[in-house]
Amino acid sequence: MESSLPDKKLGEENESVQKTRKKKKSIDAWRPSGAKDPFAMLDALPEEKQLEFQKALHLFSMDKGLPTSLTEASRLPHPFWDTQPVPKIGEDNPTTHGPIQVDTPSVRKEPFSLPQGFTWASLDLRDPAVVRELLSLLKEHYIEEDDNTTRLNFSPEYLLWALCPPGWLPQWHCGVRVSANQKLVGFIAAVPTTIRIYDTEKRMVKVNFLCVHKKLRSKRMTPVLIREVTRQVNLQGVYQAVYTVSGVLPKPVATCRYWHRPLNPRKLIDVSFTISTLTGNMTLQRALKLNRLPEEPKTAGLRAMTKYDVAGVHVLLQGYLKKFHLTPVMTQEEVEHWLVPRENVVDTYLVEGSGGVVTDLVSFYTVELKVLNHPVHKVLKAAQSVCCVTTSTPQADLIEDALVLAKSKAFDVFTVLDLMENTTFLEKLKFGMGDKSLHYYLYNWRCPSMEMDKVGLVLP
Ligand SMILES: CC(C)(COP(=O)(O)OP(=O)(O)OC[C@H]1O[C@@H](n2cnc3c(N)ncnc32)[C@H](O)[C@@H]1OP(=O)(O)O)[C@@H](O)C(=O)NCCC(=O)NCCS
Repeated sequence: MESSLPDKKLGEENESVQKTRKKKKSIDAWRPSGAKDPFAMLDALPEEKQLEFQKALHLFSMDKGLPTSLTEASRLPHPFWDTQPVPKIGEDNPTTHGPIQVDTPSVRKEPFSLPQGFTWASLDLRDPAVVRELLSLLKEHYIEEDDNTTRLNFSPEYLLWALCPPGWLPQWHCGVRVSANQKLVGFIAAVPTTIRIYDTEKRMVKVNFLCVHKKLRSKRMTPVLIREVTRQVNLQGVYQAVYTVSGVLPKPVATCRYWHRPLNPRKLIDVSFTISTLTGNMTLQRALKLNRLPEEPKTAGLRAMTKYDVAGVHVLLQGYLKKFHLTPVMTQEEVEHWLVPRENVVDTYLVEGSGGVVTDLVSFYTVELKVLNHPVHKVLKAAQSVCCVTTSTPQADLIEDALVLAKSKAFDVFTVLDLMENTTFLEKLKFGMGDKSLHYYLYNWRCPSMEMDKVGLVLP
């Protein structure tokens, strides 16, 4: 989702391709082209009706989304991604490490052009009205389950946490508005980060929150958003990005799987949340019994992190993350931002040993899912594990404590990816496999792909 760092050559190529194909392609502009245009017809309907149609289309799987396997992806053309500095789907696993575009690109000064009727907007999230606008786009149009049962739902606090870490820039929060009424219909964000890939530390961006209004899908708005955020990032002298997507694009550097531990099995069954341990002939009674948890955490001295623990946590993480090939390199300021607990956003617990040394740490952030079309349940709360670092406590014990604490805070499910050392406790703690993978991508960086247990990075 992040992307483009177009160099001059690529920029020129884009320009000329655009010119030659101008009228027809004029990007098949994401605007309606005539009275019979289905989008024009859809436009004429009230918003509520439009969303109903959208849902019907969704349910009939007419929008297939991204491929879910490399084989499937290799059969599809990638007219946009083929122009980008990313490894091709069919290429051999690289043995070298380094940027794909070796020369520093010359970056165009003007924004990429949008079809008539649309304009770019940098979203300055210091303005609460802008935050509300973005929330409203994401609320209706962001990621939802294939079966239309749940959709990610963000709070203003979560959005500010995820999008405004130290060093954030408003121009890296790229929106597209309808010129006539200023309605926000597209968005993509980049936030600064430093990542170590094998032995190389790189200042880069995390790209996230790519979202296009449902009525403007399949009209190639995504490539324009990616190119523009890339341009904005390039303008600051940054040429690499990291991003995660549940579908397969050219080409993942690693692939992980989601695993879920039910905390409130009754509700998860009610809303048809997919977990392998809650399917088949699992009755509610058995599910409740199987997923029972202790009343209290077991680890002595476990307590919530505060900002006074930042230095100790920083030292612990720096040491622990050396085990992995793809991992953040955080400053103390970033540790404070990403890990110090914030109500309904992020929870971090730790154990402090003698002399104030932090010996163990577990952290998870809040993922709120809006339950769609259910008569009773409106929201599902998932705790997404960020990391579990232990030097004095068995990892399974600390995660079990995290389950207990998450349950006491009304989370319905605890989710982990099978990265870092997480596979060591999945079975013991009764995690069930989810139905989704998460693929990790690097923009403008070639390196050997890695197994999931070498990934040391969870992106909020
Ligand atoms: C993801 C989303 C923006 C894609 O929009 P779309 O209208 O289907 O796609 P477009 O016609 O604009 O563009 C298609 C191109 O974008 C690429 N693309 C689609 N989704 C992408 C993603 N999540 N990340 C990067 N590229 C993506 C496609 O591969 C294709 O390029 P290609 O032809 O080279 O393969 C849209 O489906 C959406 O808003 N979904 C809900 C939110 C979401 O899933 N966000 C992504 C989070 S990772």
